[in-house]
Amino acid sequence: MHALKMNHLILKQMISRGDTVIDATLGNGQDALYLSQLVGETGTLIGFDIQSEAINHSKERLKDFKGNFHPYLKSHSLLKETIDQEHLSDIQAIVYNLGYLPGGDKSITTHFETVLDSINQGLGIIASKGVISIMLYPGHAAGQLEKEKILAWTSRLNQKEIDVYHYHATNQKKSPPELLILFKK
Ligand SMILES: C[S@@+](CC[C@H](N)C(=O)[O-])C[C@H]1O[C@@H](n2cnc3c(N)ncnc32)[C@H](O)[C@@H]1O
Repeated sequence: MHALKMNHLILKQMISRGDTVIDATLGNGQDALYLSQLVGETGTLIGFDIQSEAINHSKERLKDFKGNFHPYLKSHSLLKETIDQEHLSDIQAIVYNLGYLPGGDKSITTHFETVLDSINQGLGIIASKGVISIMLYPGHAAGQLEKEKILAWTSRLNQKEIDVYHYHATNQKKSPPELLILFKK
């Protein structure tokens, strides 16, 4: 099963109606739409992206969502202060889909330092039994480096607090997307 599909299946298992969740990289809003369907009209979805194009695409895609949707035109490195300002707690899921905006400017991409800073903040606000998922794209040099740095950092997380899982194909000639999942105990 493709890693993107596996990501959605795990999120479906972990997220219930009424939950509060974060899409840390809104992009074209496909993951956000899926998350909105999982949390439903009593749920809350907070989104981040540094490109107004991504914010606009996501707003358009979620125009029929009846729950709370707060898309922020700012970096996911401001995750914790934004959640604190919103007086939100019990964050059930934080979703990262790394790389560049499909169909957009390929030079605007995620950076591992910023992503790790954000994940570190996310670990401080995620609920017990919550999940942080990260889609990695090692098919190009910058994505490969990003993957290596993030895998190395997350593999050192305390196993008493977090379970870290890595789902990836082992027999593909190309380098398809890979899924990293952090389960808070
Ligand atoms: C692969 S796309 C996300 C795809 C999206 N999840 C979807 O379903 O359509 C990656 C996005 O991350 C955004 N991004 C890059 N750096 C960011 C940052 N520091 N904070 C938030 N978003 C960022 C890019 O602008 C881009 O839109």
